[in-house]
Amino acid sequence: MTLRRRARERALGFPLELPVGNAMLTVTRGGGWRLDPEPPADVADLLALYLPLALVPHGHGFALAHLAQSLDGRIATVGGESQWLTGEADQRHTHHLRALADAVIVGAGTVRQDNPRLTVRHCSGDQPVRVVLDANLALPGDRDVFRDGAATTLVLAAADRVGGGTRVGDAEIVPLPRDGDRLAPAAIRAALARRGLHWLLIEGGGVTVSRFLAAGALDRLQIALAPVILGSGRPSLQLPEITALSDALRPRVRHVPLGGDLLVECIFDD
Ligand SMILES: NC(=O)c1ccc[n+]([C@@H]2O[C@H](COP(=O)([O-])OP(=O)(O)OC[C@H]3O[C@@H](n4cnc5c(N)ncnc54)[C@H](OP(=O)(O)O)[C@@H]3O)[C@@H](O)[C@H]2O)c1
Repeated sequence: MTLRRRARERALGFPLELPVGNAMLTVTRGGGWRLDPEPPADVADLLALYLPLALVPHGHGFALAHLAQSLDGRIATVGGESQWLTGEADQRHTHHLRALADAVIVGAGTVRQDNPRLTVRHCSGDQPVRVVLDANLALPGDRDVFRDGAATTLVLAAADRVGGGTRVGDAEIVPLPRDGDRLAPAAIRAALARRGLHWLLIEGGGVTVSRFLAAGALDRLQIALAPVILGSGRPSLQLPEITALSDALRPRVRHVPLGGDLLVECIFDD
């Protein structure tokens, strides 16, 4: 988190030399790294996972989505229960991602169903700005993100729905042009960038992440696969239909074991 703070505040000089416990980490400009003495495989996996995320340059736009899902691609039961599909390691990982991010984005469905706090609690780090996508301003004002004062909250809404009011509870309403029935992910990213929010974590749910992915507005997508089969429930990714396999997305992927779950990281920003 110290490294992310430095990268967020100013351009970093390379090669970077950082003490990690009793070892010395050297990072080169392209993100290559060496730890001396050489770390065990599990530590190397974590460095490979987190270093590129911590090193995102100052002011550089970067969007990463994370979803925890069952083996059959569900993120919650039919009734909306999703806590917890994955285990403690993935939950801690989500808090690390929040601490790395300038802002954490969720859809209205998640705020309605889960009433999440979206704060960093299971690790150290700065609180990200919380961003709720609620184009029609339909959410009740009693949700914690609008009232708990734990971090700044923005509500992104369609400009034609924003009347006289400028706030939902403590949260500021940010009007954006409507793109059909939604807000365009590119416009969301641009509006947040104008506020100095560049490193974005899209934390769900499936509808919200799917819209970013379909719009080509993700740099990375992390799917934490739990060894669970629900057989029914709320879907993870849903994209416009394709009929040819050659039209499928085939990103470069990396696998990182997270406790009893498996994190699959899709890398679109190469
Ligand atoms: N397993 C996980 O990782 C995980 C993570 C988060 C949530 N969840 C679970 O997933 C469920 C909720 O997910 P969900 O997929 O049903 O809903 P969601 O993605 O949380 O919310 C979808 C809604 O958010 C608004 N929205 C999203 N993108 C928008 C855009 N680009 N422009 C305007 N509005 C936008 C829309 O609200 P309106 O239609 O009202 O305009 C949309 O219907 C809950 O059960 C929750 O517990 C699971």
